[in-house]
Amino acid sequence: MSNIIVTPSYRDHRGIGLIQLNRPNVLNALNTETLVDIVETLESWSDIRAVIITGSDKAFSAGADIKKMAEASAMDQLLDQREKLWKRFSMIRYPIIAAVNGFCLGGGHELAMSCDLIIAGDKAKFGQPEINIGTVPGAGGTQRFTKAMGKSKAMYYALTGEMINAAEARELGLVAKVVPASTLMQETFVVAKRIASKSPVASSLIKESINQSFEMSLSQGLMLERRNFYLTFASDDQKEGMNAFLEKRTPDYKGN
Ligand code: HXC
Repeated sequence: MSNIIVTPSYRDHRGIGLIQLNRPNVLNALNTETLVDIVETLESWSDIRAVIITGSDKAFSAGADIKKMAEASAMDQLLDQREKLWKRFSMIRYPIIAAVNGFCLGGGHELAMSCDLIIAGDKAKFGQPEINIGTVPGAGGTQRFTKAMGKSKAMYYALTGEMINAAEARELGLVAKVVPASTLMQETFVVAKRIASKSPVASSLIKESINQSFEMSLSQGLMLERRNFYLTFASDDQKEGMNAFLEKRTPDYKGN
């Protein structure tokens, strides 16, 4: 069975790719092979304007594969290619939406937080439970978690391993939107379609500017944002967007 199910034109929409984690026996636990499949798929798409990554009704992903990790040495971990894979994941230019139902824990939660936004079904449960198994988050769980909700809450959830329900996750700023679990994919598709209808040049620059805000000072971030703003004026999409507005028609973005 393959680790992921890939649909390059989700709901027959050319610009939207869908990746569904497919390891039901282990609640979509993430092993390195699955991460390779995800990253290689994302890198292989050229004509895509938005991607949805999802799991099953029971679990987006229950985290790193504990069976695989239990007897690993520190050197096994160090030499594993996961670190490079996460880096490659972060270099993807188009927007990636995590559509989360069920458990979204540990490395699975880190995958969701590495996406650009999270839409959750109302029964979803988030958390960093590594503390329960004698280890710590290793792919952004202490960093992105803290940036989303601040120190005290991040400490609370990472130190207790307590799960966060969907409503709390929205209040904490972890997720953008909570929808009924049964309509998660329809609702996420509506958002993906809306994003895919915009200029891909602009959306990739927005993605870069927002993600870089976590890496730099305000003045550096403002500088990058201004440069990206100017850069859109080198694109046909900017001309198309503004002319379409003036001509009172719907813009047709080509992505260049
Ligand atoms: C491997 C896992 C797994 C995991 C569940 N399973 N989570 N296998 N790795 N992370 C397996 C179970 O062993 C079980 O297999 C089957 O999936 C169903 O799980 P159950 O526990 O029976 O289901 P349930 O009782 O509903 O409980 C669900 C759960 C629980 C609360 C999500 O499975 C759980 O606590 N899982 C571990 C969550 C966790 O600690 N994640 C962090 C991992 S460390 P069998 O064969 O018995 O049917 C991590 C570090 C990241 O993520 C570092 C960087 C990548």
